[in-house]
Amino acid sequence: MWLRYSVNLAKTAGKPLQRWSARQNVTSTGDALILSRHVWSLKRSSPCEESSSEGDSLPHLPVPPLQQTLDKLMLSATPLIASSQLSASKQVVERFGECGGIGDKLQHLLEEKANKTVNWLEDWWLNVAYLDYRKCVPINVSPGVVLPEQSFTDQQQQLRFAAKLIAGLLDYKVLIDGHNVPQEYMGGQPLCMTQYYKILSSCRVPLPGRDAVRQFSSDDAKHIVVIHNNHFFSVDVYGKNGEQLSQDQLYQQLRSVVERSPTLAPPVGILTANERDTWAEVSKVLQAGCWGGHQGVGEDIRVLEGEHQGVEGDIRVLAGHQGVGEDIRVLAGHQGVGGTSGCWRNIRVLAEHQGVGEDIRVLRGASGYPTNGKTIAEIQKSIFVLNLDRAMPETKTGDERYSVMAAQMNHGGGSAHNSANRWFDKTLQEWTEVVVWSVCCRSGLRLWSGQFVVGVDGAVGITYEHCAAEGPPVIAIVDHTFTYCQSKVQDKKPAAGVQEPTQLPFKVTPEIDLAIKQAAGFIDKEISDIELIAFKFMPFGKEFIKSQKLSPDAFVQVNLQLAYYRLHGKPTATYESGSLRKYVHGRTDTIRSCSIDSHNYCLAMQDKNVSAADKIKALRSAVAAHSKYTREVTNGQGIDRHLLGLKLLASENKMATPELFQHPVYTDSGYWKLSTSQVPSKHDSLLCFGAVVNDGYGFCYNPMADHMNFSVSAWRSCSETSAARFEESITTALTDAQQLLLSNRSQG
Ligand code: COA
Repeated sequence: MWLRYSVNLAKTAGKPLQRWSARQNVTSTGDALILSRHVWSLKRSSPCEESSSEGDSLPHLPVPPLQQTLDKLMLSATPLIASSQLSASKQVVERFGECGGIGDKLQHLLEEKANKTVNWLEDWWLNVAYLDYRKCVPINVSPGVVLPEQSFTDQQQQLRFAAKLIAGLLDYKVLIDGHNVPQEYMGGQPLCMTQYYKILSSCRVPLPGRDAVRQFSSDDAKHIVVIHNNHFFSVDVYGKNGEQLSQDQLYQQLRSVVERSPTLAPPVGILTANERDTWAEVSKVLQAGCWGGHQGVGEDIRVLEGEHQGVEGDIRVLAGHQGVGEDIRVLAGHQGVGGTSGCWRNIRVLAEHQGVGEDIRVLRGASGYPTNGKTIAEIQKSIFVLNLDRAMPETKTGDERYSVMAAQMNHGGGSAHNSANRWFDKTLQEWTEVVVWSVCCRSGLRLWSGQFVVGVDGAVGITYEHCAAEGPPVIAIVDHTFTYCQSKVQDKKPAAGVQEPTQLPFKVTPEIDLAIKQAAGFIDKEISDIELIAFKFMPFGKEFIKSQKLSPDAFVQVNLQLAYYRLHGKPTATYESGSLRKYVHGRTDTIRSCSIDSHNYCLAMQDKNVSAADKIKALRSAVAAHSKYTREVTNGQGIDRHLLGLKLLASENKMATPELFQHPVYTDSGYWKLSTSQVPSKHDSLLCFGAVVNDGYGFCYNPMADHMNFSVSAWRSCSETSAARFEESITTALTDAQQLLLSNRSQG
């Protein structure tokens, strides 16, 4: 999936509570592999490199020839630029590519970087596409995945299913721990498997300006975190000798969680749904200046006298510091910087801090705040999070229910529903809805909060934070888990020495309470703005398209172009994720789906004077052009990551931004009003995500054999776009194309 790395983010940020004035250094902690903004390049070698030769034997991501990229840029921009602008655009592109010019210099630098690194794009992409992203993680970064709905008849069935889900995922973890994830191939070539090893036991960490990722050794994690009614529990899934719990034991663990959390807890989890800078600041307040895992340092700080409201959040005691019990004096005019001597040395008082001239006393063990730091550290270290959700509002069946489930996975449905029953920073969260069933109540009403509910709501799915991996590896793990759930597997022997689930408490101060309300307001506003529709396209699936000797992916893409063109009367820059996993540590590049050929297809379809035979020709040409571009991208010859690399090098080398990167030939042709992704699955699942620009659409699809699952999103605040209209338009475009092929078979 694409993220908004190059987009001018017009959607405004909520107000941060307070502003950090100093740059934050992130320290590594004992139990994490490393905590770093360049996390995967600095941490110990990836499993792909550690465990076998497949990482070493994979080719390094190439740097495409500059002229080739510039030619392709010009071609892809042609349908998007007014014809009057074409010759000026061509000149800008040519100037950039002149021998000895700026492009040439940057290309040279990029080739040097490529020679020195395992993957020249890796760190840049992680930062630019993910960690630098400042808006919220739900909707914008974390996709949701809807799995086939279950029909539970009572709560026991639901918890038994959830227990099996855990068992299925732990079954996959055995492959990960043994570095035995089956090698995958694309077109006969092996793919980089590194992403698989980053999905479990990892977590995004909010930091000002740029987040980090914590990746824990999977040997360390013996627990999952279960969230129910906003309560957090650490649930051991292995016994004292390291054996996995039986399904029955897992079920008993979940039962204990549900019984011990009958009413709603303060919605602390919703803080993770906020904008990243705000959450980064709140997270410090929540932990009283102590980074999770840094027990014993920040947690002893307490500001005396009630008039210092909020001050604790602004004091940060750095690692190794012994300030406890000392008097700290904040000196007048000493804004933002820790002093240089005495007890000042390691204490930083931040700008805008009210405390100047006042005495602050640091007390030993005076605060209850370590609770929060420890809770957060437990969540971060856990293998994954299981959300036992409350039922979503009752809907009809079919696509309406499908859309509600998609929303539930993508963002939790808002503060009134399940958005607080999450820890959005966690890489992998699986959820099932818990509905409490009672034979006593026959009214058909759904009631919340541990009260009885009649009806069974078997929504199942996941939400995952995107830093670690693309959809396909996540879906492969989920496919395995779901297949396991559906199969009759012999239960394991009960493990010995099973610990009861431990509740992970949060201490909520008035300041945090305020932050929770602000976060709830923020995410509710975002959710009310996003229109997300999930639907099943039933007329045909990929087998029909293949029977026409066409690529299903390309067929969907060119018809997305038609759907957009019919709605908006013009073509638009379109992003499709294309895999770079043929290369070591490869992630994705952009398949630019809008092409001269796709535009010709749109024009032909809209022209009554064009014969059916010519329309079919146009369709086949567009599909062929898309398939060709896809092959180029997956073979490292795309243009978007290449141009991004050149642009970032200019900035890193403090060069003036080259005119190319400010010209519409580049900016408009990369303003992705249509952001799309194919995420296939063995099961009837569907991934969904929000539109990446304010006036655009997000579109994801899982082409099954005889039907296709689609999700489409758009922002309600934009009057030009509508997910509902797009649903209609893509449905019509696809069925028109099918009719065309069927009725004119002989002419195709
Ligand atoms: N005639 C008949 N069959 C054809 C065909 C043709 N002309 N062209 C393709 N097919 C078949 C393929 O052999 C394949 O068959 P299978 O179902 O038996 O495997 C099937 O159609 C699908 O091929 P196609 O539709 O062309 O797509 P693809 O599977 O090659 O996928 C991408 C294309 C771009 C999605 C893929 O290359 C990719 O990069 N995926 C990663 C996406 C990603 O990372 N997303 C991130 C999400 S967060």
